[in-house]
Amino acid sequence: MKKLLILSIVLLLAAGTVFGQGQRAALDIGLAMPETHVERWQRDGADLLAFAEAKGYRAEVTYGDADQGVQNRQIQDFITKGAKLLIVGSINEGVVPVVSDAQDDGVIVIAYDRLITGSDAYDYYITFDNFKVGQFQGTAIEEALDLPNADSKKYITLFAGSPTDNNANFFFDGAMSVLRPYVESGVLEIVGPAPLVSSSPNFTRIATENWRADLAKTRMENLLNSDAQNVVLDAVLAPNDTLARAIIEALATDAKYDTVDKLPVVTGQDGELASIQFIRDGRQYMTVFKDTRSLAEAAIDLADALMKGEAPTISGARLDTETYDTGLKVIKSYLLEPVIVTRDNFQEVMIDSGYYSEADL
Ligand code: BGC
Repeated sequence: MKKLLILSIVLLLAAGTVFGQGQRAALDIGLAMPETHVERWQRDGADLLAFAEAKGYRAEVTYGDADQGVQNRQIQDFITKGAKLLIVGSINEGVVPVVSDAQDDGVIVIAYDRLITGSDAYDYYITFDNFKVGQFQGTAIEEALDLPNADSKKYITLFAGSPTDNNANFFFDGAMSVLRPYVESGVLEIVGPAPLVSSSPNFTRIATENWRADLAKTRMENLLNSDAQNVVLDAVLAPNDTLARAIIEALATDAKYDTVDKLPVVTGQDGELASIQFIRDGRQYMTVFKDTRSLAEAAIDLADALMKGEAPTISGARLDTETYDTGLKVIKSYLLEPVIVTRDNFQEVMIDSGYYSEADL
């Protein structure tokens, strides 16, 4: 009996070792996405996985639930499983130690969509032209309110993305590069906190921790009962679709904005299905589409080249070696082109391209 027990333990241990080694060899690429509460990331994850597998790589995807501690454990796990390359859409700078661990283990890290700031332990970043995303939002407001010819003062409220997401600065600065002259000339008045650049101390007052819709909604509700109480807003700068819809929900409870025609111009980003419906119905003015299929494919092309030790050539992306500075190093960045979407072209951009089907809408 005792012998049998010892034998079983030995067998189990042996199996464990073999399994452990099997697991070590089981992974080539780890795909660490930040969250699922913003719709796009599930598409990014699924697309990345599909493109990686199509190239013959063994890949796995995880979602960090907007919690850097959770994502760090997922990344450590990828490293333990023998991943040779990691594609990371980070949550905040708390990711830096695991990026260093990866580098120490000879694992290549590509920052995906969001720059990993405060680190020099990686070399590549792939994203969309984030400043241009913001410019599109600013231009949409400029055109919708006809600011160049406006004969009365227009009122706007500003929202920004997560203060821990480097992209949020780029989106805001892009938008304000268009809107700032109108604020300075007095045509456009900012209702509520009024930073003109993301480096302003006031920026945190308009920023939305972890891109949380509930926070944006509450902030809009509070504004409606304070700074925005005695004005009629013409526009709200909203950084993405998830927040745009939360803001529109809050606005719609106010008698001043309780029909579609009375809603201010609200911007967005991502081309989320619910926002495309809002745009179709005239509730949200615009979005900026960043085709996750293209980003995922380009990221896997980049990963493939790096794994093979080849010089990357990424079609459809522009190499930028100046703009994205982690604070310790300027990262080689590949930038894809975003597309502006309004009621005029959503059919063509979002449906005819096959991103959504007519039935989805
Ligand atoms: C992405 C946006 C997204 C936001 C919230 C940003 O870093 O670029 O596409 O809406 O995060 O997840």
